[in-house]
Amino acid sequence: MNLVICFFLFAAFALLWTWPSALCATQTNRTLHVKPAHALARNFYHESCPRAHEIIRSQIVKVIKQNPSEAAGLLRTMFHDCFVQGCDASILLMGPMLSEQFAAPNMRSLRPSTNLIIDHIKAQLEAACPDVVSCADTLVLSAAIAVQLVGGPHIPVLLGRRDSSSAASVQTVVANLPSPQFNIFGLKQKFRSHGLNSKDLVALSGAHTFGHAHCRIVGLQLTPRVSADLDIDFAANLSRICLPANNPANGAATVHLDFITHDRFNNNYYKNVLNKVALFHSDAALLEAPDTKDLVQRYAKNEEEFFEQFKVSMLKLSEIGVLTGKNGVIRKKCSVSN
Ligand code: HEM
Ligand SMILES: *[C@@H]1O[C@H](CO)[C@@H](O)[C@H](O)[C@H]1NC(C)=O
Ligand SMILES: *[C@@H]1O[C@H](CO)[C@@H](O)[C@H](O)[C@H]1NC(C)=O
Repeated sequence: MNLVICFFLFAAFALLWTWPSALCATQTNRTLHVKPAHALARNFYHESCPRAHEIIRSQIVKVIKQNPSEAAGLLRTMFHDCFVQGCDASILLMGPMLSEQFAAPNMRSLRPSTNLIIDHIKAQLEAACPDVVSCADTLVLSAAIAVQLVGGPHIPVLLGRRDSSSAASVQTVVANLPSPQFNIFGLKQKFRSHGLNSKDLVALSGAHTFGHAHCRIVGLQLTPRVSADLDIDFAANLSRICLPANNPANGAATVHLDFITHDRFNNNYYKNVLNKVALFHSDAALLEAPDTKDLVQRYAKNEEEFFEQFKVSMLKLSEIGVLTGKNGVIRKKCSVSN
């Protein structure tokens, strides 16, 4: 079938376009795939708010100087935003509707400081260019800048996302996020349902190279029995810090995800997984399938390869379900729908 006919079919079947696209797949390839009318762009605010990037960057530089571990909070909140209803800043809404932050994976787990950081930056953006820069872009760009400031790769995220005016239900949050008790099949499936493959799964899991976890979650690997995922000495250390018998303030206490370089973004996570000193079953589970195991071994040896894939996977993550063009809104305050 020649290109002209294919093009005609694309036009004629614009509404049902899976059929002609399957038919023409071998010939048309990616070039004919129509770009969304309002695509994201690197320089989206170039005219509407030229200082946007600089405002966000200077604030994140300050935050990270004060407390580098905030980078982990920003990155995780971005992940939990993008996996639930798309990267639309719905995670930041605290009212008037029920907040996503009350869902089990977020409650007493996401850092409240992340919301404060974003609120503060957004206030400055509003002062410079009212009603222009979205909360969704602010969160994504803040996370990307923070990751780089603590040693990670430069991630050239695109901008132009708009914000939702509603939050997802707590059921939707739970249904869309992976559990730390997932095995490799559950992990692959959850990522695939968001358009992410095994490479994305392994590379993005590398985010567990910084930040902290709460003992109530770490405890799942320690009781009723110590999980075979864990090195014996490491499990003993975790038990000493986390178990109720040894620590009355148990559930609220935290441990570093990477006890060797806890505030640095590097490839140490993969070494930890191989050494059985990663915290969750979902980390150890990356060794359960040959393809993901191979990637863990490669990233443990080659940080450059990890960084390169992390960059690619972050760009994919940051573009899940985005609202663009006339869709969505620009929220003035990220915590409330206008
Ligand atoms: C593969 C499936 C994943 C599972 C099951 C998972 C699960 C978890 C859990 C249970 C915690 C600890 C929460 C707590 O104790 O309060 C955590 C922390 C964290 N996760 Fe994940 N996660 C996954 C993937 C990701 C991805 C894709 C990212 C980002 C790209 C990410 C970034 C983080 C960060 C940075 C932290 C530390 C947060 C902080 O210090 O505030 N995780 N994760
Ligand atoms: C389609 O694109 C892929 C790379 O994305 C390339 O390897 C392949 O040769 C292309 N096929 C055609 C028919 O152009
Ligand atoms: C356990 O804790 C001790 C003392 O803090 C430390 O020296 C050791 O490296 C830890 N071992 C593991 C495997 O975490």
